Amino acid sequence: MKVAIACDHGGFPLKETVIEVVRAAGHEPLDLGTHSAESVDYPDFAEKLGRAIQNGDAERGVLMCGSGVGANIAANKMNGVYAAICHDTYSAHQGVEHDDMNVLCMGARIIGPEPAKEIVTAFLGARFVGNDSGEERHARRVSKVRKLEEESV
Ligand code: RB5
Repeated sequence: MKVAIACDHGGFPLKETVIEVVRAAGHEPLDLGTHSAESVDYPDFAEKLGRAIQNGDAERGVLMCGSGVGANIAANKMNGVYAAICHDTYSAHQGVEHDDMNVLCMGARIIGPEPAKEIVTAFLGARFVGNDSGEERHARRVSKVRKLEEESV
């Protein structure tokens, strides 16, 4: 699948690692910047990534800033983007499996490249289970989240 990757200067130290992991897992990275450690504004990069998801240019995204917080808040303002900070592998796969998370956020000032590799791998290897038999409760919960999204304009 195509995976959009974006970051601000705070997240930049993790970007190449993430791109390599996406490729190694057999997916196609779409590098939306930033391209240096020069200071930029994280909402601009959250928007680029969110647009890629909305336009269908990417199925999932990995978004990074210093803490992951600003990136996460900005990304979740965009319809169709379901982002969460995951600094552990359990959240990274369960967020997809149960909550249909499509954007993984991480803070490069919080975790280093080795945990990030495992987290991205867990995220990419997971799929939403809500449509599987016996797992309908997850689809029900996700549809309630979609309703909140629709009603909160
Ligand atoms: C940038 O200095 C920093 O504020 C940003 O990367 C991020 O951590 C915000 O949440």
